[in-house]
Amino acid sequence: MSSKIFTSKEIRRQFISFFVEKEHSFVHSSPVVPADDPTLLFANAGMNQFKNIFLGQKDISITRAVNSQKCIRAGGKHNDLEEVGKDGYHHTFFEMLGNWSFGDYYKEEAILWAWELLTEVWKLPKQLMYATVHTSDHEAFELWKSKTDIDHSHISYHGDKDNFWEMGETGPCGPCSEIHIDRGASACDKQGIEGHICRVNGDCARYIELWNLVFIQYNRETNRELTPLQHRFIDTGAGLERITQVLQEKSSNYETDLFMPIIEKLAAISGVVYTQENGTSHRVIADHVRCLCFALADGGFPSNEGRGYVLRRILRRAARHGRLLGFAEPFLHTLVDTVVSVMGHHFTELAGKEEFIKMVIKAEEERFNKTLDTGLERLNELSANSPDKKISGLDAFTLYDTYGFPLDLTMILAEERGLSVDIVGFNAEMELQRNRARSASKFATQSFDADWIELSNPTPTGFVGYTQFETTAHIQRYRIDEDATVLLQVDNTPFYAESGGQIADKGIIRNEDFELSIHDVKKQDDNIIHYGKLTRGLISAKPVTMEIDVAHRKDVARNHTATHLLHKALRNVLGTHVQQKGSLVNSDYLRLDFTHFKGLSHDELKAVEQSVNIAILDNLTLNTTIQSIESAKSDGAMALFGEKYSDEVRVVNVEGFSKELCGGTHVNATGEIGLFKIISESSSAAGIRRIEAYTGKSALAYIDEMQATATRLAEKLHCSPASLDTKLDAYIASFNQLEAQLKAIQAKAGDAFVQQLLLSTIAFGEINLLIKETNFPNLEEFKQITDSLKSQCKNCIAFLFNTWEDKLNIACVVSADLIPGYHAGKLVAKLAEMLDGKGGGRPDSAMAGGKALEKIPEVMQAIPDMLKSQ
Ligand code: ALA
Repeated sequence: MSSKIFTSKEIRRQFISFFVEKEHSFVHSSPVVPADDPTLLFANAGMNQFKNIFLGQKDISITRAVNSQKCIRAGGKHNDLEEVGKDGYHHTFFEMLGNWSFGDYYKEEAILWAWELLTEVWKLPKQLMYATVHTSDHEAFELWKSKTDIDHSHISYHGDKDNFWEMGETGPCGPCSEIHIDRGASACDKQGIEGHICRVNGDCARYIELWNLVFIQYNRETNRELTPLQHRFIDTGAGLERITQVLQEKSSNYETDLFMPIIEKLAAISGVVYTQENGTSHRVIADHVRCLCFALADGGFPSNEGRGYVLRRILRRAARHGRLLGFAEPFLHTLVDTVVSVMGHHFTELAGKEEFIKMVIKAEEERFNKTLDTGLERLNELSANSPDKKISGLDAFTLYDTYGFPLDLTMILAEERGLSVDIVGFNAEMELQRNRARSASKFATQSFDADWIELSNPTPTGFVGYTQFETTAHIQRYRIDEDATVLLQVDNTPFYAESGGQIADKGIIRNEDFELSIHDVKKQDDNIIHYGKLTRGLISAKPVTMEIDVAHRKDVARNHTATHLLHKALRNVLGTHVQQKGSLVNSDYLRLDFTHFKGLSHDELKAVEQSVNIAILDNLTLNTTIQSIESAKSDGAMALFGEKYSDEVRVVNVEGFSKELCGGTHVNATGEIGLFKIISESSSAAGIRRIEAYTGKSALAYIDEMQATATRLAEKLHCSPASLDTKLDAYIASFNQLEAQLKAIQAKAGDAFVQQLLLSTIAFGEINLLIKETNFPNLEEFKQITDSLKSQCKNCIAFLFNTWEDKLNIACVVSADLIPGYHAGKLVAKLAEMLDGKGGGRPDSAMAGGKALEKIPEVMQAIPDMLKSQ
């Protein structure tokens, strides 16, 4: 044994360094919740992330790898959940140290290096080590014998059950060779059991497996057949927890430095000291909380199906053991920081997620505690109605299955009440349920779960937000969704829930334990549900302060009251056929859809806007009344057509201006709106127009923006904003004049250019032939030249090739006296074809485009021959 006791941190590092020195690349652990393998519930072995390489579906980019993989074995082929806690070496979550060869080294090196690390580096006594091989694997047997100095009598053959490793129902697999250690007769946990003999693979804690070397060479297909793989691979796995136990000379994984900090914290908060004999609950909780931390950090979430259901069961198992330690309130989340302090340095993905993990664990435990409490009531009922002082097997099973009571908890509680439990009957029910589960789906769900955590009975929410921006309230229930959104209901709220086109309030809900930033509020029947994210702490049942964002509320109110004013102004200006068809009121702007047959004229819009602004200037007071629908209507209150109203309605009254049925929040007097500016008028649907407008701060910002634009323009034109109009008119007039002048000059220049061109014609028989390349930057100018050419040339055929950057235009002009002998359109089409382009036109003048600029000289040369063939 080594003289120095290594920490688990050192052991992990030594393993990785050992293989890095042997040219392995370190690969980080893949997430414990596999993102892309539906055949796998959780990462259950280091090889999972290399599966596609084994199957030849991914190229081999590195040939040797080493890592420490986070694994969960709590469902699927490898499932240790129910074993955890009973002994010192089963876990739901553990770390698997592993080294890999992808078509590189094979059995010999794998065996040699494992032996070297265990016995030379870590100095484990050779006489205590045992090796197993598959019954068919004589090669591995011989390698152990000839290449290591293991005691030959310690090598043994075993069958598929122990020495053929498979990842799952399907996937890469192969024979394996395991290394076990003898921990001495006193480690046996089956002493005295009839027929038990301590031996390797003998199912007691004396000989434990330390390292599994798998020689991957097959794929297990869905039809259960084995197909050989293209390459041979090495896949090894050594549980860090076990290696640490052995190297730290402990008798259980739970006594290593990987678990003791968690167990000690647990002992401190529960007041129950940990001993190996009475430590089942400590072990279960320490194991499960590690598992939950990693699963949640990697994207898992408790739910009612699949992976989420497994996590829910793990959490409940831990919570139930919490009850056995005397916890009545959620406690698991208080262990999260300890897990992070033990593991966070290597698994950096935990950092920063602590608060989220705590929040989810606490909410889930709270939810489960409620179920347990209901179960307790059920148990009390049973005990009160049991003349024979007995809890039947079926009742005990219902407590287990529906309320999550493990049998041991039921027995303790029954004993306290002077009752006994029919254990045989319970086991029979349990067996029946197992059979049911087997025939049902793989991850069957139970139905005892409600998503909400109820702290008191939910009642219809009181809304105090018409008069109050802040209040104290009591949480009735809450829920946490997968994206960490908290849904919360209280007895009284100042938060307005989105309705009638008005968006919801924002704000903060807090008490001394937490702070929730609310971004949305919705109505569900009579309940008002607040949606938020935790910005501090964890939800607790203490009274909360509910505070809305007042600035936001006031901006929304301005737009809402302005919508009423606009509705009324439209009816005043356009007529009473105008009816509101829909609206949107938020903090930035308002939108009103209304019936009207045509677009509004500039003057109509002006009149409407003015009418609203005058109502604002008059600072009309608002008041609201609750009236019967009949009296509201007979008072002339505007109601939305087709809308269903209850008998009692709320009427919003703008003094002397408008009266409208409305549940929304408003300003106290119209002056608070400040300013109203229409920014658009458009059609929304047939017979329905839409106006969008700004008020308050948005209207001011809009005016500022307009003013800034005017100032910018005035600066550019060197005038005052007021004289922009006259200044621009003058500019436009002078621009038009200059443009006309320019055109005249260009025409003259063009004529001169053409006269120059015509001097360079060549004789083609009797005909003057002109072939030229020109370089006009724009097509207009080039066209002008061809026009001028057409009017000036006689007995002439002209070809112009105009190039500019990578563009080419070809023009052909045939003087009137040569038509119909030659046709400009046809000639140019032919040239265009030779230059990868297209075009054509009239007999006297035509244009085409082309692409192959490099062919221009060649094409120019070919023109006389082309003309001859005409
Ligand atoms: N894949 C092998 C195991 O999980 C090493 O045991």
